[in-house]
Amino acid sequence: MDPSSRDVLEKAGARLAHEIKNSLTGIAGALHVLQDRLTPSADIDEIFQRVNVEVRRIEGSVKELSEYSEPKSPVLKRRHLRDVIERCLENAPLSASTRILRHYQDGMPPIPVDERLLGQALHRILINAEEAMPDGGTLSVSTTSAEDRTMISIRDTGRGVPAEELERIFEPFFTSKMRGLGLGLAITRTLVHAHGGQLSVVSPAEGGTEFVIVLPHSN
Ligand SMILES: Nc1ncnc2c1ncn2[C@@H]1O[C@H](COP(=O)(O)OP(=O)(O)OP(=O)(O)O)[C@@H](O)[C@H]1O
Ligand SMILES: [Mg+2]
Repeated sequence: MDPSSRDVLEKAGARLAHEIKNSLTGIAGALHVLQDRLTPSADIDEIFQRVNVEVRRIEGSVKELSEYSEPKSPVLKRRHLRDVIERCLENAPLSASTRILRHYQDGMPPIPVDERLLGQALHRILINAEEAMPDGGTLSVSTTSAEDRTMISIRDTGRGVPAEELERIFEPFFTSKMRGLGLGLAITRTLVHAHGGQLSVVSPAEGGTEFVIVLPHSN
């Protein structure tokens, strides 16, 4: 996407997210009052539950839209990637049927990252990997360092990405999921770029999907 279209999209996204957030607060408040006033019954409870689920879903989408539109200003501190990745793996909602293989290169130097922002990028890649392996599979995480950069690879044994979709998956709002918004990888790429890094996807010959993040050792 060219920079001026991206700029327009970011501004529109931020504005829209703000408007929807305000309306949602109003809707949630009105629902609360209504629920207090109505005589409880199984039917009415079910309707409220359904509406609440949808309101929360819109809240989630608006949060993603804000994340996408927000300018990223990483505060870089030297960190060992191994620690950052391990904390992400601990916090990601991975199922028991996902096997994790780790390979961290020995003696890697700490590199300048914003742990919170890089963590959000990794988290989104891990969620996608998990969603691509509904029946379980293997998640391989590895890091390797060259002279002036470090490479993080996250590979899954899931359904893979069709060749014709490989470049499109980073586009905002591209999704192949029934209830996906399609901002996960667009946000991830912006977060990696904010670190002066690169994010790419590889389609391994043996199947599955591999995401590679390359981060510079100095900015
Ligand atoms: N690990 C993966 N394996 C297979 N396909 C993937 C993987 N990661 C991403 N994709 C493809 O890229 C698309 C875009 O991913 P992205 O994270 O941007 O959005 P999403 O996951 O569809 O929705 P959202 O992140 O908003 O819930 C996905 O719909 C899927 O088609
Ligand atoms: Mg996603």
